[in-house]
Amino acid sequence: MAIIEAERLRKVFTRGQRLFGRKRSDAPVNVEAVRDLSFRIEPGEFVGFLGPNGAGKSTTIKMMTGILHPTSGRVTVDGLSPQADRVRLALRIGVVFGQRTQLWWDLPLRESFRILRAMYRVPPVDFRRRMEMLTELLGLDAFMDMPVRQLSLGQRMRGELAGALLHGPRVLFLDEPTIGLDVTAKAALRQFLRSLNAEVGTTVILTTHDMTDVEELCQRILVINQGTQVFDGSLAELHERVGMPSALRATFREPPDMSRLSDAGGRRSSPDIRVTVLEDGRTVHAEFNRLTCPAPQVLERLRAAGEIVDFSMQEPRLETIIQQFY
Ligand SMILES: Nc1ncnc2c1ncn2[C@@H]1O[C@H](COP(=O)(O)OP(=O)(O)OP(=O)(O)O)[C@@H](O)[C@H]1O
Ligand SMILES: [Mg+2]
Repeated sequence: MAIIEAERLRKVFTRGQRLFGRKRSDAPVNVEAVRDLSFRIEPGEFVGFLGPNGAGKSTTIKMMTGILHPTSGRVTVDGLSPQADRVRLALRIGVVFGQRTQLWWDLPLRESFRILRAMYRVPPVDFRRRMEMLTELLGLDAFMDMPVRQLSLGQRMRGELAGALLHGPRVLFLDEPTIGLDVTAKAALRQFLRSLNAEVGTTVILTTHDMTDVEELCQRILVINQGTQVFDGSLAELHERVGMPSALRATFREPPDMSRLSDAGGRRSSPDIRVTVLEDGRTVHAEFNRLTCPAPQVLERLRAAGEIVDFSMQEPRLETIIQQFY
């Protein structure tokens, strides 16, 4: 049985409009943040919930966690309605919003956990066992007694995760948990989430704008745009659909002779590389699909046009990949 089921989920926000140069008007404006969104998520899945800014990701997460009421449509999480059974559901889900905190700002981290334990009525034995595991896996020891407001972003995020998992939820909702973290902190967080999903079997729903999060974590990807679903499948399937748009820049010693551009086999045509010579006349910007033409091959082809003295890669960005849908 699916652990999350959304059926034609819709959310319309209404806000008062302020008209320029006139008195405030009461004419409301409707924003359809989510429209006709249907999906099923099975227990144990790790799902990336992707889409451009304003696509409706956070709004959907808020409807799945009971913070917002859908305008129409239906959603159940672990068999419960997030709205009608909000309190019961809270015991079965964990929620982390990267931009907000559920911890107590002025209290030591340890105290926040004690409060959460009481709120969620976690039996002492379970609490001790989970706290031990989370402290070790997330390395909380070093800052357990510091007030939350003094924690670095990475430390706080580890604390948030522990707080969201203390009651052993079956589903974990993460809305941009890696935002603002450095590379090391992101890697540690991913490692933790991977083992949580693999070993404990927790279902994870993750929104992110970070390509590496998706590559390393998400078995399945749901892409939404303007509130509606445009893709549902694996990362490999996503790449099959839209390719893997990458770019590199190469600087030549002399202005390159573009007529000599050839591929590795010595042929002149380069159907899967798009090349632009920049204003300085010596730098070339090449766009290509990493799946059909890997970067070394692109460089090899460019080399035919002259001596390359410098180059840099631009990794495919999630935004660029997702933009291919519209
Ligand atoms: N409380 C609200 N009142 C009015 N409009 C809202 C409200 N919350 C969200 N919206 C609007 O709904 C749309 C979807 O917003 P949402 O926050 O769900 O996007 P998102 O996919 O999470 O984007 P991001 O990647 O920027 O976090 C946006 O147009 C936003 O302005
Ligand atoms: Mg959001």
